Amino acid sequence: MRTVPGEDFDYEELAGELVALLGRERDWLANLANAAALLYDRLPDLNWAGFYLYRGGELVVGPFQGKPACTRIQPGRGVCGTALLRRETIVVPDVHQFPGHIACDPASRSEVVIPILVNGKPVGVLDLDSPRRERFGPADARGLERFVETLIPLVNWERALECW
Ligand code: SME
Repeated sequence: MRTVPGEDFDYEELAGELVALLGRERDWLANLANAAALLYDRLPDLNWAGFYLYRGGELVVGPFQGKPACTRIQPGRGVCGTALLRRETIVVPDVHQFPGHIACDPASRSEVVIPILVNGKPVGVLDLDSPRRERFGPADARGLERFVETLIPLVNWERALECW
């Protein structure tokens, strides 16, 4: 029997680990860096995990794990810019079938992007890539949304979005 992607992974436990790791730290950069590292370390079959921050009207790459990625993404472009504009999670089972997908690492085959909304305002996205097709399913989308909800109060977004 084929397992449904994400249903065998304990996202509840991951959210608990996130709080244990970041709960007493107020530095936004340290916390986003550790959040990306936690995802990359715990979730199997990833080749990229990290954040794009919505700074000055465009998405700018933030803390991540994986190969170097494109620095800036315009709202509405790629999976990240589309999720930001639509304000909804996008699961892409096969990146080759997503028109406008931005290929940072040619090894990526599937992707999930969760918009980060603070008081209804988009502040960035969480992006995960996998070298495996159909790596992410609805359970991953729900679990990662839960991860983002847990993360939001642990980060000073005002500071994180300052441009210089
Ligand atoms: N694939 C993304 C770009 C970011 S990288 O995957 C890290 C996109 O289409 O928006």
